[in-house]
Amino acid sequence: MWFKHIPVMLPEVLYYLNCGPGKIYVDCTLGGSGHARAICSKIIPGGVFIGIDQDIDAIRNAKTVLKPLNLTIHLFHDNFVYLPEFLQQLKINAVDGVLLDLGISLHQLESSGRGFSFNKDEPLDMRMNAESSTKAEDLINSMEEKSLRKIFYKYGEERWAGQIAKRIVKQRRRKAIKSSRELAQIVCDAVPKKVSFNQRIHPATRTFMALRIAVNREFEMLELFMENVNDLLNPKGRLCVLSFHSLEDRIVKHRIKALGKGCICPPGLPECVCNKKPMVNILTKKVVRPAENEIAVNPMARSVKLRAVEKI
Ligand SMILES: C[S@@+](CC[C@H](N)C(=O)[O-])C[C@H]1O[C@@H](n2cnc3c(N)ncnc32)[C@H](O)[C@@H]1O
Repeated sequence: MWFKHIPVMLPEVLYYLNCGPGKIYVDCTLGGSGHARAICSKIIPGGVFIGIDQDIDAIRNAKTVLKPLNLTIHLFHDNFVYLPEFLQQLKINAVDGVLLDLGISLHQLESSGRGFSFNKDEPLDMRMNAESSTKAEDLINSMEEKSLRKIFYKYGEERWAGQIAKRIVKQRRRKAIKSSRELAQIVCDAVPKKVSFNQRIHPATRTFMALRIAVNREFEMLELFMENVNDLLNPKGRLCVLSFHSLEDRIVKHRIKALGKGCICPPGLPECVCNKKPMVNILTKKVVRPAENEIAVNPMARSVKLRAVEKI
C-alpha cells in the first residue's frame, strides 16, 4: 500500500524534539510514518521507537516503512490516551520525546473509503478506528436536531449550523442518510446559494470536519492525554504538538501554560507559600507556523500550529 501523506513542518518538529542516538521517542499519530521515519533515523544506533495510531492502515504502513530500520520499534494499534499503559507493558518508565500530529491524514481523506471527504461517494463512516462503535451515519441519523446544531457550531464553527441540522432532520425522516455525497448535497441545499457561491471553501467543509471530530471524540482524547503526558517524560524530555483546529490548539496552549506556571500565591504576600515550581520550559513562547513555501507545496499545512515544551 502506498500511503499518501506529506509530514508537516518536519525540520521544525525534529528541531523541537531534539532527537539523538540512543534516545526513546514516541510518535502518537503515525499516519504515513513521515515524521516517524525521520525520528527513527535520528535515534539510531541504540534508540527505541514507539509508534501509535488508532487506524490499522497506519500501523500496516508503519510495519513496511519502519521495520527495515535497524532499531527497536514497538507499534500499537490504539488510541494514544493509552500511552501510559503501553509504556508499562514495555517496562519503560519515561521517554525522551513525544510527538502528536493531530487531525487526519491524506490517506484517510482521499483513499480510506470511509466517507471523510465531501468530494467522494462513500459510506458515511468517518471512524479512524474501524473497531470503535459509532459511525458518522449513526450520529447523523439519530442525534437530536439541537445536538447536531451544537456539534456543527462548536467543532466546525459553522455559521449555518442551525439550517444544516434542520435540513438533515427533515431529510432523514424520508430516508436514512447513508453516504458522504448525500450529506454533502444536504449541506449545500441548506446554505443560501449566494453564500456558498462566494465562499472560498466547499460549503460542506466545516460540517464534515465537525462530524469527524465528534465521531472520533478528538478533543476529549486530547484533553485526557495532555493531563498526564508530562509524567511520561524524562527530565529534558520534549513534547511537540501539531494542531489544525483552534479549539485543539487552545487545549494544548492552556495545558502547557499551566505546566509552565510557577508560584500561584495571591499578589501581595511577602513570600511564596505555595512552593509551586514550573514543570516545563515552554520552548515556543509564540506559536510556530509553517513557512509560506511549505504551504505552497502542501496545502494541508495551511492551518497547522506547533507548540513544544521541555520537561524541567
Ligand atoms: C495528520 S496524521 C499524522 C501524519 C504523520 N505525522 C505523518 O508524518 O505521516 C494523524 C494520524 O493520527 C491518528 N490519530 C488521530 N487521533 C488519534 C488518537 N487519539 N489516537 C491514535 N491515533 C490518532 C490518525 O488516525 C492519523 O493517522
